[in-house]
Amino acid sequence: MNKQDIKDTARAMVADDKGLLAMDESNPTCNKRFAALGIPQTIEARRAYREMIITTPGLGRFISGVILYDETIRQSMKDGTPFIKAITDAGIIPGIKVDTGARDLAGHPGEKITEGLDGLRGRLREYFQMGARFAKWRAVITIGDGIPSQACIEANAHALSRYAALCQEAGLVPIVEPEVLMEGDHTLEQCCKITEEALRMVFNQLYIQDVTLEGMILKPNMVLPGLVCLKQESVDDIADATVNCFLRAVPAAVPGIAFLSGGQSCELASARLNAMNIRFKSRLPWPLAFSFSRAIQQPAMEIWHGEEPHVKAAQQSLYHRAMCNNAARRGEYNSETERTSA
Ligand code: 13P
Repeated sequence: MNKQDIKDTARAMVADDKGLLAMDESNPTCNKRFAALGIPQTIEARRAYREMIITTPGLGRFISGVILYDETIRQSMKDGTPFIKAITDAGIIPGIKVDTGARDLAGHPGEKITEGLDGLRGRLREYFQMGARFAKWRAVITIGDGIPSQACIEANAHALSRYAALCQEAGLVPIVEPEVLMEGDHTLEQCCKITEEALRMVFNQLYIQDVTLEGMILKPNMVLPGLVCLKQESVDDIADATVNCFLRAVPAAVPGIAFLSGGQSCELASARLNAMNIRFKSRLPWPLAFSFSRAIQQPAMEIWHGEEPHVKAAQQSLYHRAMCNNAARRGEYNSETERTSA
């Protein structure tokens, strides 16, 4: 492992106010989103959709890296060019999701543990040889009646840290993603408490496993009230709660925090990221960036709808969302940005 290389890659992933585009939906998740829109759930439809994304003209102005799925990293464009070559040629760093999904945590109803450590060393070696330079592993934590348990928080943090150590050994930057889910009626304060607890456990486990913090990216949830909580705080209050939580729990050596969108609307995800940067950017140890899937892709998927004639309009939408989030990183996003066409 060349430690300097992974540190350089991690910094490049959050440089120039750019962010990451997560296009690593597993086949079942991608199929579910296609099904909801009446798009055929075939390998060719998934390939065509991903080709639409990565051939978006100028995407590299706002997107530093894309996260792929195992099926996608092996696919090619219609003209035969491997996706990974097209991505690299566009000046974008290719990454790969390497967990194999969240399963029920034994003895803990309603809780999940993310799997995928078995055989991971070999898979990481292969992905590196294919051209990937970073990886992603997502842990999910649910807030509910009596949960999350210590068992869930600790088991997921342990798995994340063992994954991260294996990534760095293979020369890949680990994106460490502990996601506290938005589903539920919990309050902002509860989300803040659980997020802080999960982050403290994650960084403790990363320390125990000797993970180089300078060579990783943290991909957390924003601190939010549950989706069906009656009290929904303002954008500014959410920005304050999120950043204050991270200031307590995330070491300054981490090169960047790239938020997931988690089911927020595109506009809210941009507005909240924007507010954090307006209110805190000049006094934070790490840049606050984005690693959105739904909050960048969803409108484009709806426009594309599985139909070739819609590719250009879908790409314009994708470009627009990427541009809005680039503006949010600078604290310059507003309703005018939303109205700017691609
Ligand atoms: P969302 O932005 O849709 O939450 O997806 C991010 C992601 O990569 C989930 O693992």
